[in-house]
Amino acid sequence: MLKGKKILLGISGSIAAYKMPFLVRLLKKEGAEVTVILTPTAFDFVTPLTLSTLSENEVLSDPYDKKSGRWTSHVNLGITSNLYLIAPASAATLSKLAHGLADNLLTTTYLASRCPVFIAPAMDVDMFRHPATQENIEILRKRGHLIIDPGEGDLASGLKGAGRLEDPENILKIIKDFFLTAQRLNGKKILITAGPTYEPIDPVRFIGNYSSGKMGVALAEEAASMGAETTLICGPMAYYPESKWIKVIKVQTAQQMLEACLEHFPQNDVAIKAAAVADFTPETVEEEKIKKQKNTTPEIKLKSTVDILAQLGKQKRADQVLIGFALETEHVFENAEKKLREKNLDFIVVNDAKKSGAGFNVDTNIITILYSDGKKQSFEQKQKRLVARDILLAAAKVL
Ligand code: CTP
Repeated sequence: MLKGKKILLGISGSIAAYKMPFLVRLLKKEGAEVTVILTPTAFDFVTPLTLSTLSENEVLSDPYDKKSGRWTSHVNLGITSNLYLIAPASAATLSKLAHGLADNLLTTTYLASRCPVFIAPAMDVDMFRHPATQENIEILRKRGHLIIDPGEGDLASGLKGAGRLEDPENILKIIKDFFLTAQRLNGKKILITAGPTYEPIDPVRFIGNYSSGKMGVALAEEAASMGAETTLICGPMAYYPESKWIKVIKVQTAQQMLEACLEHFPQNDVAIKAAAVADFTPETVEEEKIKKQKNTTPEIKLKSTVDILAQLGKQKRADQVLIGFALETEHVFENAEKKLREKNLDFIVVNDAKKSGAGFNVDTNIITILYSDGKKQSFEQKQKRLVARDILLAAAKVL
């Protein structure tokens, strides 16, 4: 399945490096061409002899050959590889990757790479939890790289917790899934909405909601990595994807989101509405800040917003696929099915807001897909980026 795929494996100084010879062996068995880069500290954890024997390839580490004085072309490595996997990524390496500190072959190659980058952090639980490490991981996630989150378990320090490198078999599965789905949406145009909308009350106040936009951003990043020309229409969010393959259109209100969607929907093959659009908006927006008044409290009269998804459902052509989300707290499937029918969707992605690990402001999600032909597909709890892939694969099938 990985025949002919060039995989660059960057190993940094973490005890979990001992798992990498197993991974190299698994990758080779699948037919991949593997080139290993070691950071100077990785030598303390795993030997180049083992890795070169298993990869049947020279192990690289020096930015230049000290004997001949010749430069190791890190630029070429990052351009000709199909995937750059950095595993294990130690806290120090994560920090260097996040901030562009290129002081060894692994990090210079990273800066010069054009292929997708997967990063698998591994370290002790406290180092992993530290805000510095978490912020570095967020920077890298936001940059569009796939983070293979470490699992919980026994750590080399004797402590228990998060920081344990994913097992080689699971890393192999993630890589195989990636190549299986890569380019599945080549030449397709996908419109995604994300985040909350803000409905102004006066110049300083608004009605909003807790949506972080993470699910929509994950969908946009995954769609782009599967080859789709991606447009993301989003409300105010903490972060926006920076990939050059994603066109980001920022809006504030439900009305602005409606206008942007109506303008872009006809040009797209698929539309996925992951935004948490306000259902109500103030009837009038005060021009000046509402002041406190003794003995009276202001009343804000609300009016309904347009249901964007239902509007798109009315305009949908036979060659277009329309997908909605339903976040429910009770009668989950009955409510979702009603939305599926009433909004003329091809399928609806259902979240149970009461399940932990699903919904707003968490990095994972648990979804069920309800199709218009009555079929139902349930998935286990996964990182939002992997959930996004499940949704996009379902969309590709319907297409
Ligand atoms: N949606 C939309 N425009 C709105 C409201 C919702 O496009 N004004 C979309 C959402 O993006 C989502 C789907 O409709 O894909 C379902 O949203 P949800 O909030 O779960 O349901 P509502 O239809 O708003 O119904 P209710 O709030 O009563 O559950």
